[in-house]
Amino acid sequence: MQSPINLWGKRLVLGVTGSIAAYKAVGLLRVLAREGAAVSVIMTQAATKFVTPLTFEVLSGRRVATDLFESHEEMAHLALSEQAHAIIVAPATANFMAKAALGLAGDLLSTMLLNARCPVIVAPAMDGDMWTHPTVVQHVQALRARGVVVLDPEVGPLASGQIAQGRLPAESRILDAVHASLISQRDWQGQRVLVSAGPTQEPIDPVRFISNRSSGKMGYAIAEAARDRGAEVILVTGPSALTPPPRVTTVPVNTASEMSDALNRHFPTATILIMAAAVADFRPKMTAGQKLKKQGKPELVLELEATPDILAMLSARRTSQIVIGFAAETEQVLSHAKDKLRGKGLDLIIANDVSRAGGGFGSDDNAVVILSASGEQKVLGLMPKRRLADEILTAVQELCLFPPRRESFVE
Ligand code: PMT
Repeated sequence: MQSPINLWGKRLVLGVTGSIAAYKAVGLLRVLAREGAAVSVIMTQAATKFVTPLTFEVLSGRRVATDLFESHEEMAHLALSEQAHAIIVAPATANFMAKAALGLAGDLLSTMLLNARCPVIVAPAMDGDMWTHPTVVQHVQALRARGVVVLDPEVGPLASGQIAQGRLPAESRILDAVHASLISQRDWQGQRVLVSAGPTQEPIDPVRFISNRSSGKMGYAIAEAARDRGAEVILVTGPSALTPPPRVTTVPVNTASEMSDALNRHFPTATILIMAAAVADFRPKMTAGQKLKKQGKPELVLELEATPDILAMLSARRTSQIVIGFAAETEQVLSHAKDKLRGKGLDLIIANDVSRAGGGFGSDDNAVVILSASGEQKVLGLMPKRRLADEILTAVQELCLFPPRRESFVE
């Protein structure tokens, strides 16, 4: 797997707190070290009940600090936070987040956080009822408002036997957050980015609709990446199971027509439009007011009509906006994408082969080819959508915001 930046020369602090998921921090340490980071581990006393410090010492090649009062040498760890490029706390318990939110400094890790001058990434793990408890919600909000990146835990089976949101975020998500925090952080400041994501649902009757397999992951990843790079982001999203990204203005919609209205409303003040949504191309001509009855009918013919092409319409009425589309193709990917690039009058099109295993609709990863109106082409191999989103933004910068000075055309 290719990463846009590796972690050579980066000094990271990995804080481990007392959760059953503490063993997963061992894998995370290995991945961070494999990318070249110098990782210093700090464990709370409770964390040492789950994994021994020796495990982290062997894998990091560094002494693990566990106690604020152990020796003078340990006080040197406070300097670590001043020198660190990023601090990652994984797993983070509700107890740790409470202390961090309130600024309590009763142990080494919490004390160090008060001293931190670098990005802090917190990957929580706890029981589902704890994650949704109002106190925890309040602490998470307080930390996020302070600029701490608190990842949402994942839904799945928990140690308690519950199936709920509380599992430690996947290693790849933590790694993506580390990468994102280390990328030059404010290079999209001043941009107002309008992103569309997810599918649309076109109703047949009150209980049925026509839709597609888009999960929203690609569009949400772009919204998060633009936000993390300093842009103001408006995300217009079709129905999605994903949590709306914090510090992004999210506008939920259902149909193509609602998506069109929302995008039209925000487009005049946007500087860049990135259209990752899978808008339905057709919708039922009539929507039944009541649930359609089977009533012994052997078949039902639905009459469909084309939806308006939102992207083409917005592109036609642009003033100074940069307009970027996606092309979801299953054959002749590049030639169909070029047709859409020209036909819709776009600056860039991001072509994805949605028949390819491991990418496209619903998956966590994707591979794309970016084509520009002036003939540039950039191939981005299979990688997590969040990382791909950063690569796409970098390509937008190179090709549209600061375009190369040469004339060429798409053949
Ligand atoms: O959401 P995920 O599960 O993460 O999946 C990501 C994705 C596969 C949906 C995404 O990467 C993607 O390819 N999005 C565009 C899907 C699509 O509708 O492609 P298209 O080739 O049919 O449309 C071309 C462009 O026109 C798209 O930018 C689309 O948003 C836009 N369009 C299409 C139809 C329409 N009526 N109005 C539009 O604006």
